[in-house]
This record gives sequence, C-alpha cells and structure tokens, in this order.
Amino acid sequence: MEKPLEATVDPQTGLRVKPVHLRQPGHQWWRSSVIYQVYPRSFRDLRGDGVGDLQGIAAELPRLAELHIDAVWLSPFYKSPQKDAGYDVEDYCSVDPIFGTLEDFDALVAEASRHGIRIIVDLVPNHCSDQHILFQAALAAPAGSPARDMFIFRDGRGEHGELPPNNWESHFGGPAWTRITEPDGTPGQWYLHLFDSSQPDFNWDNPAVHDEFERILRFWLDRGVGGFRVDVAHALIKKSGLPDWGGRADGSSSEGFPGHEAPMFGQDGIHDIFRSWRQILDSYDGDRVLCAEATIDPVERLAQWVRPDEMHQTFNFAYLHHPWDASKLRGIIESSLTAFDSVGAPTTWVLSNHDVVRHVSRFGLQAHDLRSGDGIGPLDQQPDHELGLVRARAATLLMLGLPGGVYLYQGEELGLPDHTMIPHEFRQDPTFHRTGGERVGRDGSRVPLPWRKDAPSYGFSEAGISWLPQPPEWGRLSRDVQEQDPDSTLNFYKHALGLRRRLDLGHGSLAWWVQAPADVVAFVNNGVLAVMNMGAEPVELPAGELVAASVPGAGAHGKLEPDHAAWIRLPVRDAA
Ligand code: NOJ
Repeated sequence: MEKPLEATVDPQTGLRVKPVHLRQPGHQWWRSSVIYQVYPRSFRDLRGDGVGDLQGIAAELPRLAELHIDAVWLSPFYKSPQKDAGYDVEDYCSVDPIFGTLEDFDALVAEASRHGIRIIVDLVPNHCSDQHILFQAALAAPAGSPARDMFIFRDGRGEHGELPPNNWESHFGGPAWTRITEPDGTPGQWYLHLFDSSQPDFNWDNPAVHDEFERILRFWLDRGVGGFRVDVAHALIKKSGLPDWGGRADGSSSEGFPGHEAPMFGQDGIHDIFRSWRQILDSYDGDRVLCAEATIDPVERLAQWVRPDEMHQTFNFAYLHHPWDASKLRGIIESSLTAFDSVGAPTTWVLSNHDVVRHVSRFGLQAHDLRSGDGIGPLDQQPDHELGLVRARAATLLMLGLPGGVYLYQGEELGLPDHTMIPHEFRQDPTFHRTGGERVGRDGSRVPLPWRKDAPSYGFSEAGISWLPQPPEWGRLSRDVQEQDPDSTLNFYKHALGLRRRLDLGHGSLAWWVQAPADVVAFVNNGVLAVMNMGAEPVELPAGELVAASVPGAGAHGKLEPDHAAWIRLPVRDAA
C-alpha cells in the first residue's frame, strides 16, 4: 500500500484535498460490502407466536434486496434457553423451534442466494448455555476431569473455597464466577462466565474445544453460509493464572486501564485460532468471511486481527461510538483507514446494532456518553427524536460515502429510535435483572419492526402479538407508510445505498477536502464529495451536482445547513 500523500490539488476536480486512503487492490465482495444485521426474534413473525422466525425473514427478502445489500448477518437462532436472547447456545448445529427448523434455514439460504444475498451466521465461541450437553457433562464429572477441562473451573479462595477465584465481574453485572454443587451434594468448584451465569466460558487452552468449533464451522459452511460474525472474539483466551485486574473488573476500558490490557481480553494466543479458522474457510469455494466482534483499542492493535491470514473484517466500534464532533470523527476515520490499510484489510463502518442505543436516539441526546450495553429507560433523560433523526440521516449518508464495508442494523432504514419507555415487567436483557434494574439494558433497541401501520403489532406478527411492546409512535414509521413517501427515511436509504453501489464508493478512495470549515467533515471518494455539517452555521459547497441529500433540500443552492449531509458529484475538469 502506498503512503498517503500531502495536501494537493485534485487534478480531476480542482479541489484542494489531502489523500488518506487509496483504492485497495483486490476485488473480493467483502472489501466493499453492505451487510444488514437481522435480529431474528424481532424481524418478522410469520408463524404467529409473537417471536420472529426464519420463514419471516425469507418472506421479506425482496424488501431487503431493495436496499442493495450484499449479505444478511443473522444473530443467533440456534437451540437455546434464550437467557441472553440466543447468545446462550445449547446446540450449535440446530435451529431453536421458536425460529423454525433446519429445513427453514436451508430454504432461507437458497432463497437469499436467488436475490444475490449471502447469509452470515453468528458464531458464539466464548461461551455456551449451561444447558449445553458438554457443560452438563462437566457438572456431572469430578474436578480435574477432561469433561471439566472443556470449561474454566477453579477452586475458590478462602479457607473453604467460599470466595470466587479472582475479582473478575460479569459484563452484565455481578461476579463472573458461580459456585457449583458437586454431584455428591457438597459445595464445590467455581466456573467462569464473563456474561450471565447461564453462559459458562469455554477453555480455549484445551485442543478439544478447538476441535468442537472446527466441526461447527464446517457444519454451517457445508450448508452454504457466506461466513461468520464471531461473538466476543477478543475473549477466547484468558491470561494464564487468571490474575485479578486492577481496572474495571468487567474488563471494559477505564482511565489508566485500557480494556485491551485486561487479562480476559486480546491475549496473543487468539491469532492462532483465527488462522486455523481462516484456513478452513479458504478451503471452501465462494469467498466466505470471518468478521470479529472485538472491543480492542487502539485501532492499530485491532488491525492485527485482520492480517491477510486471519479474519477478513472486524467491527469498528470507535466509529460507532463517535460523538457529534467533526474533529473527533475525522480523527477516527483517518486512524481507522490508516491502520487497516497497513495490513491490506478493508475498514468497516457501523452506527447501530442490537447491543447499543440506536443512532437516532443517541444523536438525540444532549451528551451521549452511554456505556456500551446500557439503554435509556423511562427515568432517564429522553432523546429529542426530531433532532436525532436529522442527525442520524446525515451520519448515515456520510458513512455510506466511505470506502470499505458497512454494517446496517434492522430498522435503521425506517429511522427507528429506541423504545425508551418499556415497562419493567417486559424487560428480558440479563443486564436489567443482574443489576436490579439499575442498568435497563438493551431491550430498547430490540423491539419488533413495524411493517404495516394499521395492523395489530404493526404487521410484525401474523397473530398481531409481539414479544416486546412497540411504542405507539411507531405507526407513522411503519414500512408501508414510508414506501409511499418519497422523502421517507426508507426511500433515503434505498437511494443512497443504490448510489453507493453504482458509484462503487465502497471500493473507492478517501481524500479530505482541506478547505472545509473545522466543523464540517468532507471527503472526496470516486469524484463524489461527501460532506456533513456538524457545526452551528451553514456552509458553502463547491460547485457540482447534488446527487444525495440527508433530508429533502439538504445541500440545495450550494449551501449545507447544520446537521445536514449531502453528496456532490464534482465536475471533472478538462484534461487540457
Ligand atoms: C455480544 C453480543 O452481541 C451480545 O448481544 C451478547 O450478549 C454478548 N456478546 C454475549 O454473547
């Protein structure tokens, strides 16, 4: 990869620019992909039990194809007690009856392929459900046995082993260890669970765990999946000796204690696991992908995860959490592109997923320093939905102009906010229950989608019921209403995504427009200026054709108002 250049005049357009990222060699689809996350329980319920299902996803594929996406990533649909919405897997090679059957899955893959859409599944290798056959076997076996060694069992501290083996805490609150009762009825060993107590961590120091997951990878690859999103990929290997940690005991970053130094994250041995998985994927046809869900900072370190023989992509959480601040946003974009370019990997961009407050709601808050995994509850400051939507559309347009891969989360194409008023009795996220309601958790971003304004459950379920209540204001955000309105968020997404594909922006370059005011983020990609005004004053735009606007009128008459974004196709100067 060539070194970024100094500020210069772009010979094609005459704008003064500073190149940061040059078009990458390699044309694999995942270098410029748009991947749409489906959260199966909340997408579409065709079988009428109030929970979304695989048949519902298959039925709506034509609607997804209208968004010009390359792939769908499905959050877990495997057999599970659903203590953490399916991230507690009981059987990795099955479909939970609430979502359908393996035949439904095969039909979904086949139908998606007819629409040119790949299906990516969620691999959950850090932990399983306590109902998994291997964990049940571990409980029944004695301390020190091979069955126990599949998990992380330790004796407790204290005179009678009554204290947990170290100070680590669960991400969902409370201790990361639970003490078991041995088969003979005596108080026994403790097992590690970085998440809920129903999610025991696997012991990745044990080769038998590697074998088990290679089998699981092949099972889904043989069924034709396009790849895997790898859940908490940074947690698989723990530092030997499992030492106490002086930072936040759940390993998340705090002053002086970056999360990547935590003993439960980002240990070196992880790379060998990724390499062995990459070899398996490479042995299949069809260019299958691995995408890491990893909270690793700084980004230069994260880039080590996507070296040519490791994963293909990793989520860019620094980007997801960017504040409404042009200088910080430029910094994140530039450092991301520079770091991923140095290893020849695409940078990815994302604004929402099922673990965070949706970006419409985040951008509608005065200050949005929400801790990851925390939602907004009825007693919290409420977001300004109008402001949030205007800013979210601008942020989306800017993101879709960036070179690299993009992740979308179901419902963002409708401009959905979080449901911030869910009554407590409906809450299902273990975070809510493990913190006694102090952290409301993530249910607000997981509410079933509104498809039809005048149908019960807004057309989500054939039976008119919904596992989480939907807010009354969602009627006007329903898909059928938005289909009829040329200015709707849905039509804005369709237009911008179609244009991104036609102009090949995902496989483009990035050069800052250096004359942009400080509060404005503006870059040129493939002859298009993508520009977002994060300041308080309108800005003048260079001459060109306005090809996309974040809201109607944005960028018209050569001016861009605050909180708006636009794409301007720049005139190409005569070669003479
Ligand atoms: C990350 C997933 O996205 C989240 O939903 C889940 O609770 C944790 N990993 C544990 O699997």
